[in-house]
Amino acid sequence: MLARAGTLGVDMSIAYATATPTADELIDLYAACTLGGRRPMQQDGAAKTMLDASNIHEEAREAGRLVGFARAWTDRVHVTYLADLAVRETHQKHGIGRALIRRVQAAAPQALMVLIAAPQAHEYYGRIGFAQHRSCWILRPGMTV
Ligand SMILES: CC(C)(COP(=O)(O)OP(=O)(O)OC[C@H]1O[C@@H](n2cnc3c(N)ncnc32)[C@H](O)[C@@H]1OP(=O)(O)O)[C@@H](O)C(=O)NCCC(=O)NCCS
Repeated sequence: MLARAGTLGVDMSIAYATATPTADELIDLYAACTLGGRRPMQQDGAAKTMLDASNIHEEAREAGRLVGFARAWTDRVHVTYLADLAVRETHQKHGIGRALIRRVQAAAPQALMVLIAAPQAHEYYGRIGFAQHRSCWILRPGMTV
């Protein structure tokens, strides 16, 4: 699917697809936005493991280059966890993030979508229509129950 993104006066021809980038493309994209510092991308094999273990991959490309990506895990009927949403800094605020989330939702329309927002995106999800939930709990690696 080709779409024009140009809300800030810059025209971009963005091709969206349900497809999996290479691990190197993922590392490059995450380095081009703040997500690079929030994921273990420097860890050997981490990018490939992350891709292999998730079951929804939505890409945005401009002239073949990966400019946005959403990675999620879903059971298709109950819940979808949006693990990563990344848009190249040069391409942000052109509707790419929202379009990728719409594609993730379309892959499992019946499922509740949940995520943990990065500090940089704290205001983002509310702005595009997500509801904040008070009952989110996390268990960090090393914490025990
Ligand atoms: C957060 C991110 C995915 C947003 O993607 P994007 O393509 O720039 O966002 P969109 O163009 O779809 O923005 C949709 C709307 O949200 C607004 N918006 C974008 N980024 C925002 C932010 N960080 N905070 C608040 N609002 C934001 C846009 O201005 C737009 O508003 P409008 O509809 O009134 O015009 C992108 O900035 C990014 O990759 N950031 C770095 C990585 C990151 O933090 N990812 C999220 C991990 S939880």
